[in-house]
Amino acid sequence: MELSTTPLEIADCTTVIGSEIRADLQTLLSGRQAETIRAALERRGVIFFRGLQINDEQQVAIAKTLGSIVQNEGEGGIYKISLDQSVNQRAEYLKGSMFWHFDGSLQPYPNLATLLRAIKLSNAGGQTEFCNTYAAYEDLPDADKAAIADLRVVHSAERSQYYVRPEMSYEEICFWQKSPTKACPMVWTHQSGRKSLLLGATADYVLGLPTEESRALLARLRDWATQPRYVYRHEWQVGDLLMWDNTGTMHRALPYAADSGRLMHRTVLAGEEPLH
Ligand code: OGA
Ligand code: MN
Repeated sequence: MELSTTPLEIADCTTVIGSEIRADLQTLLSGRQAETIRAALERRGVIFFRGLQINDEQQVAIAKTLGSIVQNEGEGGIYKISLDQSVNQRAEYLKGSMFWHFDGSLQPYPNLATLLRAIKLSNAGGQTEFCNTYAAYEDLPDADKAAIADLRVVHSAERSQYYVRPEMSYEEICFWQKSPTKACPMVWTHQSGRKSLLLGATADYVLGLPTEESRALLARLRDWATQPRYVYRHEWQVGDLLMWDNTGTMHRALPYAADSGRLMHRTVLAGEEPLH
């Protein structure tokens, strides 16, 4: 039997980032559009499906058509994103997600992509913003591209925690310092040849630069990459299934109350490209 390969309907939300894809559940579960979806993810940074009405098993099954899923967090491929400590014990750590970041910056293979499905929304806040770090890099003036080409940035878990708890105790600092730091290039040259900027809340300092210069450069580039023209803000509806290319975007949640009930079910696709 010939499988139908109806082209997917893709509606772009902004010029450089974010698209809504209209597809029926059977098509997504079959994997026959997986290549198209992966290509859209890489091209658009963020894609989402609305009105699918899927359950956890179907979310995981769709993810598996796109890559290999990371099983070491959550249960059955689903991890609960909530700031309520009775739902997620790491709720305190997750508050860091309200600041621009990409996931897995400390891992040898940062996650390829993340899928989030909105289970319950907060009454206020809780949108998620994404910026396209490929586009931000491409638009940099040539002088900046040359100046940052070979820079390396040390990323640390400790650094990202200062955003959440500016006055950490000695014990807290020692705790976060147990996570090994990692030096990453400031410009990620992907296997495809494309380049993206690599920044985010774990970016601590630029190797070899004076402290002030390092802090100023990291902030200047973050400001650049998160200008409105590179950003898509997702206004969630219950049931939305959204995925982002974690290797070519940064993201952050807009503030929402820890007791708001907001709940997202997350599935992560394992990284396929080393970062060193
Ligand atoms: C994440 C994350 C943002 C959100 O799951 O990695 O940063 O809006 N989530 O919940
Ligand atoms: Mn995140």
